Amino acid sequence: MSVNKEDFRPVIVAFCCNWCSYAGADLAGSSRLAYPADVKIIRVPCSCRVNPMFILRAFEKGADGVILCGCHPGDCHYSTGNYYARRRMTMLFSMLDFIGVENGRTRVEWVSAAEGVKFSETMNSFVEKIRSLGPNVRLGDIRCKN
Ligand code: FES
Repeated sequence: MSVNKEDFRPVIVAFCCNWCSYAGADLAGSSRLAYPADVKIIRVPCSCRVNPMFILRAFEKGADGVILCGCHPGDCHYSTGNYYARRRMTMLFSMLDFIGVENGRTRVEWVSAAEGVKFSETMNSFVEKIRSLGPNVRLGDIRCKN
């Protein structure tokens, strides 16, 4: 089944750390900055809480794009969590690219609690990127059927 590009509404999963990015999303909301409702935010204590399996599971369950947001390097509430997350995601994203899940479908972004505008802009640009890539059919064969 092919989906018309204009009709395509991507499913985006955004993992946001509690201390910065989630607060940034909150600020974007309270500042009435728009970002697509297609972005489903999952709050995690720290970006390093995101096990690579979570990303694979999101794709398996039908996500078209997955973004991980955390505190800026040096600002992690737990000191070094985001350094571990960055390293882990670099490895995972290159493996995903190898099996055909385009690099544009995954992203890591640092957003502080004061960066509501950046959060909104990041989500808008990420959704636009996923729209241009189209549905994620690469992992369709392993997706769970309801
Ligand atoms: Fe935000 Fe660690 S608490 S990345």
